[in-house]
Amino acid sequence: FKIPEITNEPMKSYAPGSPERKALQDAIAEMEKELPFEVPCIVNGKPVKTGKLAKQPLPWDHANHLCTYHEADQAAVAAAIDGALAAKAEWEALPWSDRAAIFLKAADLVSGKYRYKLMAATILGQGKNAWQAEIDAAAELTDFLRFGVKYVEELYAVQPPRNSAGSWNRVEYRALEGFVFAVSPFNFTAIGGNLSAAPILVGNTVVWKPSPAATYSNYLIYKIFEEAGLPAGVLQFVPGPPAEVVAQVISHPEFAALHFTGSTFVFKKLWKDIAANIDNYKGYPRIVGETGGKNFHLIHPSAEVKNAVLQSVRGAFEYQGQKCSALSRLYVPSSLWSNGFKEQLLTETAKLKVGPAHDFTNFIGPVIGRPAYDKIIGYINKAKEAGGEVLIGGTGDDSKGYYIQPTVILTKDPKSVTMVEEIFGPVLTVYVYEDADFEKTAQLIDSSTAYALTGSIFSTDRKALIQATNILRNAAGNVYYNEKCTGAVVGQQPFGGARASGTNDKAGSMAIFYRFVSARSIKENF
Ligand code: SER
Repeated sequence: FKIPEITNEPMKSYAPGSPERKALQDAIAEMEKELPFEVPCIVNGKPVKTGKLAKQPLPWDHANHLCTYHEADQAAVAAAIDGALAAKAEWEALPWSDRAAIFLKAADLVSGKYRYKLMAATILGQGKNAWQAEIDAAAELTDFLRFGVKYVEELYAVQPPRNSAGSWNRVEYRALEGFVFAVSPFNFTAIGGNLSAAPILVGNTVVWKPSPAATYSNYLIYKIFEEAGLPAGVLQFVPGPPAEVVAQVISHPEFAALHFTGSTFVFKKLWKDIAANIDNYKGYPRIVGETGGKNFHLIHPSAEVKNAVLQSVRGAFEYQGQKCSALSRLYVPSSLWSNGFKEQLLTETAKLKVGPAHDFTNFIGPVIGRPAYDKIIGYINKAKEAGGEVLIGGTGDDSKGYYIQPTVILTKDPKSVTMVEEIFGPVLTVYVYEDADFEKTAQLIDSSTAYALTGSIFSTDRKALIQATNILRNAAGNVYYNEKCTGAVVGQQPFGGARASGTNDKAGSMAIFYRFVSARSIKENF
């Protein structure tokens, strides 16, 4: 069989008066009317109500919540692991065409029947505006599923190119022995889908702990997989507080892999916990993680100012800066800064309206919750105390939802706190360098943080692009020329970074699938 031709899911415009705008508004209104929902754990395809109730609050109305969910308890987690192990042999043995068909069907359900519902859950529960939700819950999730099928097809076809006379060599890409643990974040609904789905596609079974702040949208993804025909037990849905669920899963002897996106701190903690358990496992667990970022735009004196400004505003403030790829440190040459860059940056930032994300006139929605709000405001205050000048924004309003004005801080110290630590909010810090110091500034970017996720270089001079790209060789896993450092597209820019940003296993590419298979070479003599 041949898989269908795969292309990126086309994005809809949501222009005023468009049918998709109406459909999305209807889905949001319906969800608002029906909330709060009740979300169980799903163990072996059956809802499990543990009675340990927790809430996913609405970030734009914190007195209310999108759903109440049943946190996984010890018994549910134990049953989920046993069930994942029991379901594995049959799932792995299913012909590849059947596994592929389930994923292609799930992709169709995401892009069609459930598009607006998934987006509504992402908008209301995670505070994304319509266009950000379209990028994520509609387009990227569909792409992860469809391109996943294409990449696995290609992976299975990677075979030894030589045979000696009278023999045939082949490689079988088996699923890992044991089960995979997926731990997903709040900021991309699509990442929840991908962390759980990618290992499954190559025959693994997965225990999945979604972020508490994305429980409902991630539950809808589970239901879509179920409707697409994923057999019970292949994916176990165990929402809950990290500490309890995680410790129990990681200490299990059949734990085979961690597929994680989240903070650097939590990832390091998990890595240490895994190390502490190393003698209990059957094998060496695969550890795949995408963590933090402190992403940069480096503007060369030859750059086109208008484009660099617009890209910087979008890179820093889309989804309130809550992308691991978000721009947070901007390096501008003094000749451009005082000749229009500063003025345009502030003018464009001032245009961004802040408010509930389901009001289509707002660009900036709420940040995800109380701890995030306090942390971001805390960083703005620290920057001020350290002599940073707030050029615009700097304030918040948490009376009903968690709103923070898009904030631009000017610093004279390129190693000041908001230039080096990850903030995960709508805060952009600018450092103005002397034009002659372009090379030195690239070195500074490379050496001043622990992270290496994304970065962009803006220049109309190719020599400068090459020079900076060479100096910044290890400073970013995703580099962009004359474009913002966010928005990697599945199938186009494999995504991920090294250093403290992750294991750089490149989501949205074939590379990630290698991490979830255990290859077996077979030589047969005729
Ligand atoms: N892949 C997203 C981006 O590139 C972040 O997770 O913006």
